[in-house]
Amino acid sequence: MHPEAGQLLRMAADAANQGAFNQALPMLSHALAFDSEATAPAYAELLSHLSLTGWPTQLEADLVTCLHARTVDPQVLARTTARMLLVKYPEPAVAEDALWIAFLTRCINVDPAMETRLAWLAEETLPEGLRAALAVQAFAGEYVWGGEGLGVPSEAAAALAEERALAEAMPSLGVSGDAVSDRVRAQYEANPYPRWRAPAGRQRVSVAAHLAALGAPQAEPLAVLVAGCGTGFEPIDLARMDPSLTITALDLSGASLAYGQRMAGALGVQAVRFVQGDILDVAKLGQRFGLVNCTGVLHHMERPEDGLAALTGALEPGGVVRLALYSERARGWVAEAHRVIAEHGWDASVEGIRTFRAHVLALPPEQPLSRLRESDDFYTLSGCRDLCFHVREHWYRLPAIGEMLGAAGLELLMLDAPPDAQGLFTRLFGTSGDRRSLALWDQVEATAPHLFAGMFHLWAKRVQ
Ligand SMILES: C[S@@+](CC[C@H](N)C(=O)[O-])C[C@H]1O[C@@H](n2cnc3c(N)ncnc32)[C@H](O)[C@@H]1O
Repeated sequence: MHPEAGQLLRMAADAANQGAFNQALPMLSHALAFDSEATAPAYAELLSHLSLTGWPTQLEADLVTCLHARTVDPQVLARTTARMLLVKYPEPAVAEDALWIAFLTRCINVDPAMETRLAWLAEETLPEGLRAALAVQAFAGEYVWGGEGLGVPSEAAAALAEERALAEAMPSLGVSGDAVSDRVRAQYEANPYPRWRAPAGRQRVSVAAHLAALGAPQAEPLAVLVAGCGTGFEPIDLARMDPSLTITALDLSGASLAYGQRMAGALGVQAVRFVQGDILDVAKLGQRFGLVNCTGVLHHMERPEDGLAALTGALEPGGVVRLALYSERARGWVAEAHRVIAEHGWDASVEGIRTFRAHVLALPPEQPLSRLRESDDFYTLSGCRDLCFHVREHWYRLPAIGEMLGAAGLELLMLDAPPDAQGLFTRLFGTSGDRRSLALWDQVEATAPHLFAGMFHLWAKRVQ
């Protein structure tokens, strides 16, 4: 990194930590001019938390730079950029400027007012560049707000054709015959999720060193299984983070795997082997792993405990599993969504999802269900289906997860709690409270039920 940029970054971080954002921004802007790739992640992080009331030209130019930086996932800037554009163009207007084009082609919109603007734009006569960019946006959101008339962008059509060919040739463990797995597979064949477009900028991290620090050192080279890898973001992110890993990525959905395999090819990632199959059949891989990563998956199985037992069987003795599971308390408002959907008889078809979304978008802000509008998943068809129309989901309290781990022969290493949860834990139980006690964490969650809205993330070790 350019030394001047480094110094400015440190000063900006100090200013931001003290809440002095107005001082931090010009420093970051300066640093960006010295070294845009190195500065962009810190700048994007700060911008993503800002509520903008104006559109200083320098900030706008910096946003465009950050949206194009290879080190940043532009999606983290989606909300800020949408708001900036709506401040800049308070009235509907056709404008082909660099910020519009960067937003439309690099982000998926996650702002309700912007959604209205996009639907309006799609009906206008547009200059060719803007029309093409809007078509990219409409495709990325799976036409959740309309825009089909704009046509499928040629790059997207080529990607779809490539994915169809990859799905046909995908190595497979065969069909497990589990009825819920069949329905879950059908959901993700129709709507692969998540539809990520750009990887996060990644620093090199040694996964083996991380596991050793957790108290579970593994033999190297480390073999990793990503169980329920969806569209491949996790295995590809791991491979870029630690090129020493050999990674197997397993999922029910051939369409999701094909999405991941295409992205791996495009990013030059070769360490990931994609395999279609059910977690219940993981033994058919004929391999043991030092690490199994299973994020947001087991709670979609008929019997998650059977899935966990199968995954534990695929671990080396002393191997580690990383799990993410839904919190019952944090998902309370999704229960309300399920109730409303059932009451109206809406199904998971395109029409059903669109009708439900229109209902949510029209709710006054004081209605609890209007919170759905804050979720990024609400803004794509596959995301909204995953969020509110899932064919099966289980929700957990932490003590029940503890019991499930014990029954599978696993020992908890750590609950990976977010900083606000860590702070609350310290307030309630001091710095010497046992952070491996799920009963204590359950008390923490009881005092703030939304703490684990991003799921419970846990690391556990197979008992020898
Ligand atoms: C919500 S997505 C999560 C994807 C990915 N883990 C992530 O966090 O981006 C759930 C994925 O789990 C897969 N899945 C669900 N049940 C499964 C099973 N029994 N065996 C293998 N994959 C399964 C689905 O096909 C889907 O792609």
